[in-house]
Amino acid sequence: MQKRDFLTLLDFSPSELEALVRRAIELKRNRHAHRPLVGRTLAMIFEKSSTRTRVSFETGMAQLGGHALFLSPRDTQLGRGEPIEDTARVLGRMVDAVMIRNNDQRAQEQFAAACDVPVINGLSDRFHPCQLLADVQTLVEHFGSVRDRTVAWVGDGNNMCNSFALAARQFGFRLRVACPEGFEPDADVLSQCGDAVDVMHEPAAAAEGADAIVTDVWASMGQEAEQQQRMAAFRAYQVDDALMTRAADDAVFLHCLPAHRGEEVAASVIDGPRSLVWAEAENRLHAQKALLCALMDPPAG
Ligand code: CP
Ligand code: NVA
Repeated sequence: MQKRDFLTLLDFSPSELEALVRRAIELKRNRHAHRPLVGRTLAMIFEKSSTRTRVSFETGMAQLGGHALFLSPRDTQLGRGEPIEDTARVLGRMVDAVMIRNNDQRAQEQFAAACDVPVINGLSDRFHPCQLLADVQTLVEHFGSVRDRTVAWVGDGNNMCNSFALAARQFGFRLRVACPEGFEPDADVLSQCGDAVDVMHEPAAAAEGADAIVTDVWASMGQEAEQQQRMAAFRAYQVDDALMTRAADDAVFLHCLPAHRGEEVAASVIDGPRSLVWAEAENRLHAQKALLCALMDPPAG
């Protein structure tokens, strides 16, 4: 059988993605009931820091009966220049799936092309698809469905924003992106999203009547040198109580975390009653368990 990768949300069809979210909600009801991955191993390559992604994949594999290996370039031959394709070929002969977090979506594609087992994007410079499974799960749990809802993204048009754009296309919601000029999401991503995504520059316009307001850090991992310049560019883009009042009365707030209170979000919002960020973080575990089962233990037929 042909192996499948999960490098972007376009690797699964809309109905497959909806099934993953449904499965995640089921798995959440009893996290220790299903052990279909006994004897399977997930290798996890982290070229960047992580709390949620590492702990959710490692715990998820343990709960499913399998095992996860943490690999850092510092301790493997990847850090000493072994070609990424050679590493991919070797891991593909030993483990049952690989997760990669790095700064280069194209390197992930090269890795996946050389690897005989499924490869999962645990975040790259361009996308963070696993986070979107958890985010959509969180919205579905709260609202019953995301279809035809309106989500406002306020801040940087970064890897998370690109993934929200693809999620809008795949799950059938509208995304309004408010970002400073020069910080828009990738043009080729937008070109694949049709009228599901609108880009604007005014946070209040994006937030007007929205069902959810979402943001992320102003300087992503690897952009530390731009921190000061970005702080100035994004000053008017903080999600605060005034912006939340523009949204629908029952609107919620999401953030993939880690967050910087007082920068992209006010403490009163992230720690307030409309914030779903802790359920969102927990859902990384359940959504990725559904993904791991789909990739390593696909239903017959
Ligand atoms: N949201 C997220 O991916 O968190 P980590 O960087 O802690 O994995
Ligand atoms: N945009 C952030 C997301 C972290 C989970 C980053 O890439 O650092």
